[in-house]
Amino acid sequence: MQHDRPPVDFVDPASHEPLLQQKNALLRSSDGRTVASLIDGKWRFVDPSGHYAHSFGWQWKRWSTTLSDAANNVQHRFGEIMKRTGFDRYDLAGKSLLECGCGSGNDTEVLQRLPLNRICSFDLTTAIDATTADLADPRLTVFQADLNAIPFKDHGFDVVYCHRVLQHTPDPEASLRAICKKVKPGGIIFAHCYNSTPLQDRQYHHKYRWLTNRMPLWLVAALLSLLAPLLRFIWVQLGVKRRIGDRGWWFCFQWVPLHFTYALYDHLGPRKRLDVEKLITFDRLTAWYENHLTGADFRRILESEGFTIDSLMCDEDQPVWATATRNPEPSINVMTHSPAQAVAADARF
Ligand SMILES: C[S@@+](CC[C@H](N)C(=O)[O-])C[C@H]1O[C@@H](n2cnc3c(N)ncnc32)[C@H](O)[C@@H]1O
Repeated sequence: MQHDRPPVDFVDPASHEPLLQQKNALLRSSDGRTVASLIDGKWRFVDPSGHYAHSFGWQWKRWSTTLSDAANNVQHRFGEIMKRTGFDRYDLAGKSLLECGCGSGNDTEVLQRLPLNRICSFDLTTAIDATTADLADPRLTVFQADLNAIPFKDHGFDVVYCHRVLQHTPDPEASLRAICKKVKPGGIIFAHCYNSTPLQDRQYHHKYRWLTNRMPLWLVAALLSLLAPLLRFIWVQLGVKRRIGDRGWWFCFQWVPLHFTYALYDHLGPRKRLDVEKLITFDRLTAWYENHLTGADFRRILESEGFTIDSLMCDEDQPVWATATRNPEPSINVMTHSPAQAVAADARF
């Protein structure tokens, strides 16, 4: 049987051994086991159906372009990403970037604007099939994989980027540690996660998730489409115009199942703004996991993985995010040993 080297430097996610290509499959070199299949032009390292995040596959196909800068002809996401990551403080020219949990590629298309020479973006779900990123860009590889089993060698990327994903994994700490491993010494990581705060814990979706997590996705979307204009009207009257004072805002924040975006998306016009609110509400109501990390968790995890934190954002009513640089590998300096120590060490082996 003819075996070729795969077009991308993928490795077996578990053993990190090289893979061989046989038609539309990638096989482990040691035992010939299939670890990925080429379906619709993209490599899939996960079972297409058997994972917890299928709501995201559905969501990003239904609302693939809703938050896309390119589709909306705006710079909103670009501005947000640059502000959060601080990427303009680093020299990214010619660097490689691994994007973990790309959804339908609304961030990928922003990352494509940076002077990187390689971008590898993956998601656990078939959301990658609705990507808004420019697939004709020769720097870009999009594939389906789990961030806890990434099919690349450790320490392989100059930049690892993970935006709005960790909270949706079963164990955000383990996930953050897994993606840290892919950063080269001297490289950087940007990671983001929901934070647990007394304010955030009282938001509307916590009241309904026990139900909406069990409903068919199309039904949640249909109910949102039907009710969103009414829910927005309630938000404006009670939450913004404060017809019954602060109690109205509290009521909306805690109970009205529409993610009110204030003036954040006004530039899109009322119809598209409502679509954004439906998308964010759907996301909040249907994601299987909503876990948290605190700013202190970020600091502890990143520092113990060998990073120095360059910036860390952690506000009461915001998620937490950080950009950090991996410390260079400590060099082994044989001259620090005395000749007597060297002889003693040699004798042990
Ligand atoms: C809220 S979306 C964010 C998508 C994109 N980063 C963005 O900001 O538009 C979260 C994404 O994380 C993906 N995800 C969740 N668990 C994952 C995992 N273990 N590995 C890879 N992607 C995962 C979901 O499929 C989903 O597309």
